[in-house]
Amino acid sequence: MSKQKVVVLTGAGMSAESGLKTFRDANGLWEGHDVMEVASPQGFARNPELVLEFYNQRRRQLLEVSPNAGHSALVELESHFDVSIITQNVDNLHEQAGSSHVVHLHGELFKVRSTVNENHVLDWKKDLVLGDLDDNGHQLRPHIVWFGEMVPMLETAAYITQQADVLIIIGTSMQVYPAASLINYSPQETPIYFVDPRPNINASDYRNLEVIAKTATEGVPNLVAQLTDSLI
Ligand code: APR
Repeated sequence: MSKQKVVVLTGAGMSAESGLKTFRDANGLWEGHDVMEVASPQGFARNPELVLEFYNQRRRQLLEVSPNAGHSALVELESHFDVSIITQNVDNLHEQAGSSHVVHLHGELFKVRSTVNENHVLDWKKDLVLGDLDDNGHQLRPHIVWFGEMVPMLETAAYITQQADVLIIIGTSMQVYPAASLINYSPQETPIYFVDPRPNINASDYRNLEVIAKTATEGVPNLVAQLTDSLI
């Protein structure tokens, strides 16, 4: 028998216990910055040095942290289920933990791209500065989807979510669209589990939604054990 499909949508709370700060838990400031200042095309046009340095700090920080027990539990889930992860996170902690199928909705910290040709993407683990150019002499920028920009992986993510037999949502405030709208793509009968210590969702708006008001390192391993046991 083929495995059931589990689709997992993750947000910043997934990586919080690895030591990466969430966006909206500190008065709308992200590491001391207004998000529009460091995560919008306008912010980059106004002060590219500041934006590049901001992502350099994020990249350096990512080199120092490790996946947590929540990430590892999602890898274990692959023994019993066909698992696809759709993450809003720009870290690579799902991949570091060993998850096989990860779609990044908002880009990746360890990649950069040409400011002129968005399809010209390079792997990049060091600092990025003004003067770092693509092969055609154009400035490189972080491979991050900023506010107001298109979300190229959205269609793929929506298609994956439509195949879900089980949907798990972890550590997201559900405030950023279109990512938050993906919940509406899962089939009506698909059970939804929402793991977040401060869940920003109205369970009664959904037919099959169960809130697990726990952190990722506690709630996700429990849920994985529960789903695995349900097969035995
Ligand atoms: N475990 C699970 N969830 C947690 C934990 C934890 N240890 N700690 C905090 N959370 C939850 C918070 O309760 C909150 O609901 O994580 C969520 C984080 O919400 P946001 O900071 O808004 O992050 P996210 O939803 O991923 O933001 C979406 O916004 O700035 C953009 O592009 C950026 O991808 C990001 C998007």
